[in-house]
Amino acid sequence: MILIILRFLLLVWLAKTEAAANIALPGCRDSCGGLSIPYPFGIGSNCSLSEDFEISCNTINRSSTPYNGDLEILDISLSLGQARIMSPISYQCYNSKTKKIQYTDYWVGIPPFRFNHEKNKFVVIGCDTLAYINFTIDQNSYLGGCVSGCDSLKSLTDGSCSGIGCCQTTIPTGTNNINLWFDEKFNNSGPEVYNFSPCSYAMLVEEKGFHFNTGYITSSQLQYQSMSVVIDWAVGNTTCDVARTSKSFACKSKYSNCSDSNSGPGYICNCLHGYQGNPYLQGGCIDIDECATPNPCSKPGKCHNLQGGYRCSCPLGWRNKHNNLQECKLNLAPLVGTCAGIVALCFLGLTTYVALERRNLSKIKEKYIQQHGGWILLEEIKSKQGFGFTIFTKQQIEQATNDFDSENIIGYGGQGTVYKGTLRDQIFAIKKCKIINESKKGEFGKEMLILSQINHKNIVKLLGCCLEVEVPILVYEFVSNGTLFQYIHNKKQGSCISLATRLRIAQESAEALAYLHFSASPPIFHGDVKSANILLDQNYTAKVSDFGASILALTEGEQFVSFVQGTRGYLDPEYMQSCQLTEKSDVYSFGMVLLELLTRKPVIDFDAPEKEMSLCSRFLSAMKEKKMQNLLDDEINNEDDMQIIMEVAELAKQCLNIKGDERPTIKEVAEELDRIRKLKFHPWGQVYTAEEMEILHSQESHNNNIVIDHSNYFSMDKEAEEIIDVGRVV
Ligand SMILES: *[C@@H]1O[C@H](CO)[C@@H](O)[C@H](O)[C@H]1NC(C)=O
Ligand SMILES: *[C@@H]1O[C@H](CO)[C@@H](O)[C@H](O)[C@H]1NC(C)=O
Ligand SMILES: *[C@@H]1O[C@H](CO)[C@@H](O)[C@H](O)[C@H]1NC(C)=O
Ligand SMILES: *[C@@H]1O[C@H](CO)[C@@H](O)[C@H](O)[C@H]1NC(C)=O
Ligand SMILES: *[C@@H]1O[C@H](CO)[C@@H](O)[C@H](O)[C@H]1NC(C)=O
Ligand SMILES: *[C@@H]1O[C@H](CO)[C@@H](O)[C@H](O)[C@H]1NC(C)=O
Ligand SMILES: *[C@@H]1O[C@H](CO)[C@@H](O)[C@H](O)[C@H]1NC(C)=O
Ligand SMILES: *[C@@H]1O[C@H](CO)[C@@H](O)[C@H](O)[C@H]1NC(C)=O
Ligand SMILES: *[C@@H]1O[C@H](CO)[C@@H](O)[C@H](O)[C@H]1NC(C)=O
Ligand SMILES: *[C@@H]1O[C@H](CO)[C@@H](O)[C@H](O)[C@H]1NC(C)=O
Repeated sequence: MILIILRFLLLVWLAKTEAAANIALPGCRDSCGGLSIPYPFGIGSNCSLSEDFEISCNTINRSSTPYNGDLEILDISLSLGQARIMSPISYQCYNSKTKKIQYTDYWVGIPPFRFNHEKNKFVVIGCDTLAYINFTIDQNSYLGGCVSGCDSLKSLTDGSCSGIGCCQTTIPTGTNNINLWFDEKFNNSGPEVYNFSPCSYAMLVEEKGFHFNTGYITSSQLQYQSMSVVIDWAVGNTTCDVARTSKSFACKSKYSNCSDSNSGPGYICNCLHGYQGNPYLQGGCIDIDECATPNPCSKPGKCHNLQGGYRCSCPLGWRNKHNNLQECKLNLAPLVGTCAGIVALCFLGLTTYVALERRNLSKIKEKYIQQHGGWILLEEIKSKQGFGFTIFTKQQIEQATNDFDSENIIGYGGQGTVYKGTLRDQIFAIKKCKIINESKKGEFGKEMLILSQINHKNIVKLLGCCLEVEVPILVYEFVSNGTLFQYIHNKKQGSCISLATRLRIAQESAEALAYLHFSASPPIFHGDVKSANILLDQNYTAKVSDFGASILALTEGEQFVSFVQGTRGYLDPEYMQSCQLTEKSDVYSFGMVLLELLTRKPVIDFDAPEKEMSLCSRFLSAMKEKKMQNLLDDEINNEDDMQIIMEVAELAKQCLNIKGDERPTIKEVAEELDRIRKLKFHPWGQVYTAEEMEILHSQESHNNNIVIDHSNYFSMDKEAEEIIDVGRVV
């Protein structure tokens, strides 16, 4: 607290000394009679700018009064370039006793200074008065006058100077001499006047300091008084622009400004805004410490003094008011703005990144779709709404297979890995192809389109695919009970497979292949027919699968040459030589499947001696030697079925003909199998198994159309046939 007071006092003291120190020239008195006399005025010679500004400090009756010439100075204003002086009053009084007029005329001259034309008025007081004023401006003179009259005191009003008892008029700019006198014919000599108003007065007076008082009319005392008048002073007799070039330019302070006088030649100096002091002195203008007292900054602003000004700094979260820099207003905008900006930047960056990443991703997807010729497929799907083929997204596939979890692998096909996938409570077999041959990539979409249109009960249905990934992913219907290969060769299960079932599976497979060869457009050659590619559903219905190696039969004339694909043991030897896959290649492979069904032996037995390794050659030699029975699976090796088995064996032999041309078509094979199956069920030829009898009876009781009759056998409609199939469960 004490510190604050001390500091305050120090500041006050400093301010005082500084201000005081710089008013007059060094070594000169700076005041007279309590009035400060700033330079260019000065007391005594060599203390003022020129003689015009010289002040004499006269001491009368112990009180000092400053005079400029014989004019008493009341005050001096540096900033306005003005001063106030005392000016005498002219009077004219009528002495009723002597009948004489007593008067004084005044001449007041103040060159080179001038009477201020705005603040001063020529005032005439009296009830029978006409006074003249002679203004001299430079060498020219102008005459002015004012008439004042009144009948009685009652007509007068205090404060009103408008012709009754008092009149006033303005003076022209630049007046530096005035001469006042009265017209003698207006001399208050009329008894109705001099009784109450013996005197008239005329004066040049500062309007602000003059108030008309009715007492002036009746009094004769005003003649001894004087009135204040405002004068304009200026330095030199040139404009600023001219003066600036001169050595004697009066605006000595660095922080001063010069302005031309309003009322005539000369100029005045002023300290620049934010500075105070005496601009006529070197170093006279001192920076105003605006922050001293009182603090111009409203709370919570903090004041900082600057050269020629100050600054109000606002605390964090506030800012200067736009129109009033002294005030601070709450402004969280920069704070909030900065935060928001950072957040926005982060957000922008993130979204841009995500967008880029997404674009990148979709670009990659598009690339793959493009590579796989997927656009054809997509367009086709669009045009044929709902033909049961779906384009799955990568996300769906990943979700279904639990990101290709190895636990979901259900098989390794020749062309890729097969996963079990669940999507929307539906089970699919999802095949992830191995990287396909670049040159064939473009064909993929087209192939998908063709394969998707295949709809046969004994062919695994292709439900959709996914093109967004590097390698194509195919989505098939899920066939639950494994492959025919597993069924035949997994003897651990100890399952007994009846001849009827074997024949049915064989026929179903053959029909599927026949469909591919003859009904599909364009024809499709499977290329990898084998027991492992024949799947079984819950009812042990055969479903041919894996078109991986399948090569679409090209339109006529086009030859397709490729490297040989397929599985050892099933491969058509002719195909191996020519590298040309034909429909008969499938027939050969199917012959091997038939052999598997009959013998339940592997197509290549690696444990057997070299001569007996190939099932095919063993079979062919067995056929030659008519020792087929030795090869047959024990389960079906009975005399009753031997005729049928031999017919199947004969069919297999035809299929396995080394010459493709001599093999039957798969359609013929299917028809032959059909015939053989019906032969087995011939009511008069063979004996039904108990199981089959039962089924047939139940069918009969349900459907009277089915007549188990040899003559009707070949006219039995397909529907009935299917019913028989469906009903048979091994
Ligand atoms: C004023 O200055 C002049 C010349 O600069 C000098 O001769 C004169 O004595 C001075 N007068 C006073 C009163 O100092
Ligand atoms: C000075 O004082 C005396 C007596 O006090 C007075 O008579 C005289 O008029 C005064 N002079 C002026 C100029 O005021
Ligand atoms: C006005 O004053 C000037 C100079 O003092 C003088 O020459 C002139 O005659 C006067 N004019 C009148 C009308 O008195
Ligand atoms: C006063 O004025 C009257 C006219 O108003 C005039 O007749 C008279 O002579 C004047 N008196 C003097 C002393 O001039
Ligand atoms: C201006 O003032 C100077 C001296 O102060 C003088 O010599 C000069 O003649 C004046 N010029 C005018 C136009 O009054
Ligand atoms: C300086 O004076 C000139 C002329 O009077 C004026 O226009 C200008 O604004 C002044 N400059 C400052 C900074 O006071
Ligand atoms: C876009 O994918 C390419 C690879 O295809 C990769 O090199 C690149 O970094 C990815 N750009 C972004 C922004 O993820
Ligand atoms: C792709 O197929 C072409 C012939 O269609 C063949 O020349 C090429 O070797 C194959 N490339 C691969 C990687 O299988
Ligand atoms: C085939 O399905 C039946 C049920 O329909 C089941 O009992 C049997 O184990 C399945 N066999 C295989 C090999 O999946
Ligand atoms: C198996 O047969 C039963 C009865 O005929 C049928 O309801 C079921 O849909 C069949 N299952 C399959 C997978 O075809």
